[in-house]
Amino acid sequence: MKINLTNIKKAKKLLNKNECVAIPTETVYGLAGNAYSNQACKKIFQLKKRPKNNPLIVHYLNYRKLEKDCNFNDNFLKLYKKFCPGPITFILDLKKNSKISKIVTNNKSTLAVRFPKHPLTRCLLGKLSYPLAAPSANLSSKVSAVNSNDVKEDFGKKVKFVLEGGRSSIGIESTIVDLRNKPKILRLGGLEISSIQSALNKKIQINNNPSKVSAPGQYKLHYSPGIPIRLNVKKIKTNEAYLLIKKNKETKSNYFFLSKTGNLKEAAKNLYSTLRKIRGKNYKSIAVSKIPNKGLGRTINDRLIRASKF
Ligand code: TXA
Ligand code: MG
Repeated sequence: MKINLTNIKKAKKLLNKNECVAIPTETVYGLAGNAYSNQACKKIFQLKKRPKNNPLIVHYLNYRKLEKDCNFNDNFLKLYKKFCPGPITFILDLKKNSKISKIVTNNKSTLAVRFPKHPLTRCLLGKLSYPLAAPSANLSSKVSAVNSNDVKEDFGKKVKFVLEGGRSSIGIESTIVDLRNKPKILRLGGLEISSIQSALNKKIQINNNPSKVSAPGQYKLHYSPGIPIRLNVKKIKTNEAYLLIKKNKETKSNYFFLSKTGNLKEAAKNLYSTLRKIRGKNYKSIAVSKIPNKGLGRTINDRLIRASKF
């Protein structure tokens, strides 16, 4: 990808003034601000209409830059070496003298950290003297943004600048793993659990039960396109959009396919943009055909279940 330095400079200038800028990542777009600045972090929460008790992920260029803010451990280093930069977020203990704004963590002693892979955002991070706090660049509880138009659709001119980085290649948020004690998955995401398990050489607990919320991304209503969703549907109702994992012979105007052949990576990449597309039409609800509950299919099902708690 060609790096447009004029745009990077513009983003840097705004961030240095404690403004928010939308940044591309390989998972979804983020709404970024200086993670060391209370003022910038407050703006992120206001723009997103995000509850204060839902902490933000902080994005770093590499682990060296993280050293002054968090304590590392062996599991972190193992996973970092294998998957970073990439679609994985770590929960670590904050260092006492860290400069991370208390607004980011809601005064907690832990921090969610991620090392995004997108070249533009990496270039930007390399030019800043602080890491970037960035939740997904969508209004709270709504469908995430996977390109610059999605961000503009949600925020209009309220977000001063969107760093144009094309379409997110993974299209679904990072996998969150809590590494403070025994590793635990807090949110299913773009990195498959089986890959994390084989890197650590052990089975990991998945703490994905919505009644035990430790990552508010686990709150029930989330990722919502604003109309009801029914899951595992074989027969649709009138005025319903039908979301299918793979293209079939019937091509009715209300049929939406997540992939050509049932490929789960492709389906994950298309999920949010397809939900946005359906939302822009006049359907009363969305019926979803069964999606295999394995690999990234688990992440897709997780998002659809939460989106269905309308
Ligand atoms: O792929 C991603 O992770 C994207 C891109 C922009 O990096 N970001 C993202 O952020 O999905 P957001 O804010 O939409 O989701 C962050 C999740 C929330 O569920 C939040 O509760 C959880 O991370 N989280 C943040 N800090 C935490 C902490 N200290 N302990 C547990 N969960 C935390
Ligand atoms: Mg989000």
